[in-house]
Amino acid sequence: MNELSIAGMVCPNNVFLAPMAGYTNAPFRALCRTLGAGLTFTEMVSAKGLHYHNAETELLLTPEEGGPRAAQIFGSDPAIMREACESEFLAPYDLIDINMGCPMPKIVKNGEGSALMENFPLAEKVISECVKSGKRISVKFRTGTDEAHKVTAEFAKLCEGSGAVMLTVHGRTRDKIYAGPCDYKEIAAAKAAVSVPVVANGDIWKRSDAEALLENTGADAVMVARAALFRPEIFSEITGSDPPPMLPLFSEELEKVRELYGERFAVVYMRKMGAFYVRGRRGAAAYKRRFFAAETSEEVAALFRELWEEV
Ligand SMILES: Cc1cc2nc3c(=O)[nH]c(=O)nc-3n(C[C@H](O)[C@H](O)[C@H](O)COP(=O)(O)O)c2cc1C
Repeated sequence: MNELSIAGMVCPNNVFLAPMAGYTNAPFRALCRTLGAGLTFTEMVSAKGLHYHNAETELLLTPEEGGPRAAQIFGSDPAIMREACESEFLAPYDLIDINMGCPMPKIVKNGEGSALMENFPLAEKVISECVKSGKRISVKFRTGTDEAHKVTAEFAKLCEGSGAVMLTVHGRTRDKIYAGPCDYKEIAAAKAAVSVPVVANGDIWKRSDAEALLENTGADAVMVARAALFRPEIFSEITGSDPPPMLPLFSEELEKVRELYGERFAVVYMRKMGAFYVRGRRGAAAYKRRFFAAETSEEVAALFRELWEEV
């Protein structure tokens, strides 16, 4: 794993935290950075939401400490997407990523997310308009819509030609959501087609998965999503550093979530995270039940202490 420079933005290593809606808020991104993530992404944020000054959308863009930082936006109106890139809420971010891979029907129906992989002219317009903001622009997409419609290399070329400085390929078609193996060949085809850095994403659960993904695709970096929710220490594991004690980190995460979003959200979010983090440990099912029964952030914090104090 090595340092990676993306249009002048220096990432200390090439193991990135993926955007995940509902999860990659500022405290979680800070936790993953402390554990070694070389670049972090906000969850996908609606450009229209920013246009209409939606307070919840703006809150999603609270930056975490440290850097470099990437924010992800979604939308299909080129002018509104550019306006988002120029918004003060995106100013703290070093890179703005455009979501062109989301398979959720309500997003696709609006012509956003992965629908843009089916509309090359509009995708090109969205990217080139965003580039005019002067920000570094990247694009995250899938290999196509289904087995018969794989467009990875062509779409990668389109993104690069429109001014994107980095591309992330999730090695699956839209119809697969998360099923089936990650398609190394398609990611390798994208890498061979462009000269900007390519990030490979899909199914990294342990260090050797990251190594295999890099080796088999020739990609410049890897991006971890679901595994980070269960085991954020995966960043230390892949980057080869000793993970620090987890209790202070989880306690800090809880405290920051409470400060930022309030007590109720902190309870609901952190009991979900607790249930993720405890996975695979002895007695996990019982602890999971106890997390979901917790009514206050102090009860959640006590469970974290019980589980991680001695570790
Ligand atoms: C709960 C959840 C939310 C996600 N939200 C986003 C998102 O906001 N933007 C995006 O580009 N991808 C999103 N993804 C997809 C991930 O970034 C990633 O591409 C996918 O999970 C494959 O990586 P993995 O095998 O490491 O999980 C999400 C995935 C999950 C599981």
